[in-house]
Amino acid sequence: MSDQPHQATSPVLEARSLARFYEVGGGLFGKPKTVKALAGASFTLEAGKTLAVVGESGCGKSTLARAVTLIEQPTSGALLVDDVDVAQAKPAEMKRLRQDVQIIFQDPYGSLNPRKKIGTILEEPAVINTNATAEERKERAMELLTKVGLRREHYNRYPHMFSGGQRQRIAVARALMLQPRILVADEPVSALDVSIQAQVLNLLMDLQEEFNLAYLFISHDLSVVRHIADEVMVMYLGRPVEQGSRDAVFQNPMHPYTKALLASTPAVDPRHRVERIKLKGELPSPMNPPSGCAFHQRCPHAQERCRVELPELTDHRTQKVACHFTETINQGQSAA
Ligand SMILES: Nc1ncnc2c1ncn2[C@@H]1O[C@H](COP(=O)(O)OP(=O)(O)OP(=O)(O)O)[C@@H](O)[C@H]1O
Ligand SMILES: [Mg+2]
Repeated sequence: MSDQPHQATSPVLEARSLARFYEVGGGLFGKPKTVKALAGASFTLEAGKTLAVVGESGCGKSTLARAVTLIEQPTSGALLVDDVDVAQAKPAEMKRLRQDVQIIFQDPYGSLNPRKKIGTILEEPAVINTNATAEERKERAMELLTKVGLRREHYNRYPHMFSGGQRQRIAVARALMLQPRILVADEPVSALDVSIQAQVLNLLMDLQEEFNLAYLFISHDLSVVRHIADEVMVMYLGRPVEQGSRDAVFQNPMHPYTKALLASTPAVDPRHRVERIKLKGELPSPMNPPSGCAFHQRCPHAQERCRVELPELTDHRTQKVACHFTETINQGQSAA
């Protein structure tokens, strides 16, 4: 029960200008460089909803995942889980917050210990974090096996006896052992056969509904995102460049980078064909980002201002966009 009834949909997670930098190099002769892997992301995540994070390789998606799952501390900015500022949390509280946020990874082959039985793998988080008895743990593990579409007798088998899709189901079951509220999924179906991807996505959607889970769903595949997202955040070189509802972003993309991503995705509804922007040039390195707007070298609309001034993420009708020329570029486009 909420003691703030006016906040019917209080977010389960909130990021405020979340940033994570890495120091790299600095060997014998080199000066160390700062990689701004994540340079300020702000968003909220609500129970039962999915925020999808999209963008090319190296734009900071996994860095964001590691910050949100409390694996790595942010360099700056704040992260709130269940309204608790993680930086201020006491150790006992921190333990609970860590249970609240679980993660599944891309590689279903590397993420399960081949020497351990499925039952042991599933129960590990409960052994470490709860006082549940052996019977209670076993019962929960078996129940979750059936929830993810496997069978109770799989409890005694080893990972090598399962296919990639089944292994990902096991990873999902393990992530749910501690009844989390937030699931971070970092490219959870990218390693699977296309025919299996839809099954695992549908499973994730069913589980979301049943347990009212919030998903931070990371993917570079826009057809997957379109299927599963409520909200979308498009990232470029460590920064969000467009954020909004799935329909706003897919039907009326406003940032030139989002338009380019969508134009290169064949599954996009032809009725909503957007301006064809082809990405020119290579993705710059976050170690040596371009001045001004990081996208300006590849942008067909770029002007002098874009080379010198970093655009802020600002509200434009239905979504937020970080581009100096959003209004000019999108003139005459219907609001979504
Ligand atoms: N521990 C680290 N030390 C130094 N640099 C790092 C570290 N982790 C990530 N980076 C750099 O930060 C940037 C963002 O990396 P990240 O893994 O978050 O990208 P990504 O969007 O997940 O990419 P992909 O789609 O390939 O998984 C990259 O340039 C990467 O090289
Ligand atoms: Mg990644």
